[in-house]
Amino acid sequence: VVKQEPVNCGVDKRGSSSIAVALLGAGGWGSLVAGELKHVPGFELAGVFDADQARSSTVADRLTVEVYKGLDVCLSDPGVSAVIVAVPNDRHVELTAAALAAGKHVLLEKPMALTVQDAEDLARRADAEDRVLMLDHIQRYYAPLRAIKELIEAGSIGQVLAVSVRRRDLLKRTIRWLQLREHVGGLLYQSAVHEFDLLRWLCGEAVEISCTSPGRPIAPELDYPDLILSQIRFQSGAIGQLWNCMTDPMPAYDGVVTGDEGTVWFDLYDAQVRWARVGEDPEERDWSPRDRWAPWAWTSGGGIADGEAEAVRDMLADFRDSVLGRGGPAVTAWDGVRSVELAQAGYISLATTRAVDLPLSGRDRIRKAHLELESSRG
Ligand SMILES: NC(=O)c1ccc[n+]([C@@H]2O[C@H](COP(=O)([O-])OP(=O)(O)OC[C@H]3O[C@@H](n4cnc5c(N)ncnc54)[C@H](O)[C@@H]3O)[C@@H](O)[C@H]2O)c1
Repeated sequence: VVKQEPVNCGVDKRGSSSIAVALLGAGGWGSLVAGELKHVPGFELAGVFDADQARSSTVADRLTVEVYKGLDVCLSDPGVSAVIVAVPNDRHVELTAAALAAGKHVLLEKPMALTVQDAEDLARRADAEDRVLMLDHIQRYYAPLRAIKELIEAGSIGQVLAVSVRRRDLLKRTIRWLQLREHVGGLLYQSAVHEFDLLRWLCGEAVEISCTSPGRPIAPELDYPDLILSQIRFQSGAIGQLWNCMTDPMPAYDGVVTGDEGTVWFDLYDAQVRWARVGEDPEERDWSPRDRWAPWAWTSGGGIADGEAEAVRDMLADFRDSVLGRGGPAVTAWDGVRSVELAQAGYISLATTRAVDLPLSGRDRIRKAHLELESSRG
């Protein structure tokens, strides 16, 4: 693989004024994200590489782009400035490191890695190569959650004291790697990692996490717990609480943020935000149609809900602007590191039944505690 010269000017080596992007991993999510590139001015999908050649061809045909026959072929293409890495979680480090070494900017799916040490290595590589390494923590682009952030920044509820979020999903789990903690990491890496990022966004750095779980998975095909409750303490003094379930027949995504001057309540899947200052009447905002962020709004053809599609486009536009040097991404590589650290510390907490201090140090930085749980099926 020949390392690419820095291309930050927005004019790629194909002579186009668009940034050419390649998709690495053309599965369910990666192909949806890549499919939204056509709606983001300044981006062009150049081609697709998937370890499964038949998958590569199907997705490349659908998106009318080139198939790369190998990873090296893709990464050696001097016309490609950036890649989207959307492979199984345990392959993120290997593919991202190769892409950075080839001089590509990377939009990496969550979780960044399965240990904080691996995640930090990637963040340092990106810094050393002067490449953008952005994490797809899509929550930061959902309009109702952005509205909450704006209310907090406007001082509408004063200083944040406590946040509670319940995410109850019925996630697809027919794909083999998603059933195995060895590949997926488990619920904290796959799903709660989004809420770790969300809570850090609202509350700042975490200093302690404590997790608990009934242990046995609700879904028999999984070898890891699919219901985990977390309590987090933040440097600011704020406290956070998460209810994460991947196997709930009544999906919901709601929560509350309490400050010293008021409270915000939200229901993402019903697209509502309501807030009140102490002593004042509540105000509210909603988005139409009300189920635009709900998982059941996904089309039967395997499409993407309108709200989710808008969030993906905003996230891609943020990536484009970062590649063009117009400011850093909302979710940096170092944000990705901190979310991985919360997931890892959460599993250490489950394995030791104790609260765990952050940042992790010593052996805990490489500890794969998600593989240690006795309560999981082996
Ligand atoms: N940000 C989000 O909201 C969000 C949502 C869903 C999934 N994801 C993430 O996206 C990633 C992909 O998830 P998915 O649901 O699309 O899974 P998937 O199984 O549908 O797709 C993964 C694809 O990667 C391919 N692959 C495996 N190893 C490869 C390799 N070494 N090189 C190239 N291709 C390889 C597989 O053949 C498969 O086509 C995961 O990291 C997942 O956590 C993120």
